[in-house]
Amino acid sequence: MNVADSELMYGKLAAHGYEPVDLPDGADVILVNTCAIRENAETRVIGRLGELKRFMKPDTIVGVTGCMAQRLGPRVLDQAKHVSLVVGPDGYRALPALLDGARRGEKFTATDFDLEEHYEDVVARRFEGVKAWIPVQRGCDYRCTYCIVPTTRGPERSRKLPDVVREVQQVVEQGLSEVVLLGQTVNSYTDGTHDFADLLRAVGAVDGIRRVRYTSPHPNDFSDRVIAAMAETPTVCEHIHLPMQSGSTSMLKRMLRRYSREEYLECVARMRAAIPGLALTTDIIVGFPGETDEEFEDTLSLVREVRFDDAFMFKFSPREGTPATRMPPEWTIPDALVAQRFERLVATVRGISRENNLKRLGDTTEVLVEKVARDGELLQARSRDFKTVMVPADSARIGDYLTVQLTGTTGATFTGTPVGDKKERVPLPMATL
Ligand code: 5AD
Ligand code: SF4
Repeated sequence: MNVADSELMYGKLAAHGYEPVDLPDGADVILVNTCAIRENAETRVIGRLGELKRFMKPDTIVGVTGCMAQRLGPRVLDQAKHVSLVVGPDGYRALPALLDGARRGEKFTATDFDLEEHYEDVVARRFEGVKAWIPVQRGCDYRCTYCIVPTTRGPERSRKLPDVVREVQQVVEQGLSEVVLLGQTVNSYTDGTHDFADLLRAVGAVDGIRRVRYTSPHPNDFSDRVIAAMAETPTVCEHIHLPMQSGSTSMLKRMLRRYSREEYLECVARMRAAIPGLALTTDIIVGFPGETDEEFEDTLSLVREVRFDDAFMFKFSPREGTPATRMPPEWTIPDALVAQRFERLVATVRGISRENNLKRLGDTTEVLVEKVARDGELLQARSRDFKTVMVPADSARIGDYLTVQLTGTTGATFTGTPVGDKKERVPLPMATL
């Protein structure tokens, strides 16, 4: 969501004559777009703001945007004297005017919510060349007790379906064929007339679109209509990121997730029955207040039962003002125990994804080449079911769809060899087991 917001800011500023630079060194304006979801995200921002000082010219304007700006408001200006703008997620339209004011020496905090703000007329300038992030919903009406997002992004609101479809058509005109629909609980999307099922079908039917993904859904908003739309729209990829947070019903209750372990499993079963070859990934929090050994074991056992392809795992981070911070202090889990549980969870998740991935060796799959891999030699590509595949091919192939055979896996990622494309035939790489 933050990348999408940065692309909107970039588009808004480009329309006002600003040009991007690759390095902060000597820039006229430096905006730091921030996340507030966990404390360490904010700690990194504070460090980054300090580092940026040495790149500033006397007239450089530094602004802090995003959820941390929304959460802290004017406190950012007090803590970092070199910052002159603090702008929350609904205030980006005013950026050019705010920058003009800052140039006159003024300081601003813009953190009002605007429930009508969808930046409909702002043309995003995209950073990534291969897929497009499309925000379809802003804010969140859930109140998970650990989560700062409802405070920083405000109430849920959705864009109109025709507006989303129009943006997807523009994306195709720009030469992209994969879109990722974004929302905090994206499958609760409703524009008053259309639900998320309608949106998936409409976006999936746009001429030239080959892959539709979305993130992140809430398990309670998976109506049979949505699952059917996913199953029946060939462009919608066979992957769902389905945050579970915990495998224990009592813990889920304290988190106010509004589903039980059994209901989560039932949701998974409905999805798997409807969508063959479905890959599932998830989010899990460890060390939430009061987490007993038994509750943690329930999380491990749910991971084993569902056999996720992958998971993002987080140590609980108390966020100021959230209900979790008002739980009895004796419920706090000691750091050492959190660390121990976290390690066990990581080992369990990694073990299962390795087993899942080993079974895939030898399979042939279609990948979209995204970028040059970090090692600088192979290209990094993605299958429809969200597997990362390293492919030996020329960087001219970025943006192309290739058919590859999965020939090796590190346990987490694959190496693949292009097949059925004579120019790209290369010797089989050694399996990297
Ligand atoms: N502490 C740890 N993890 C959190 N998440 C959200 N809030 C917190 C928190 N306070 C995690 C959840 C969510 C993901 C985006 O971040 O797992 O799904
Ligand atoms: Fe946060 Fe829960 Fe909303 Fe997700 S659904 S953004 S975890 S409050």
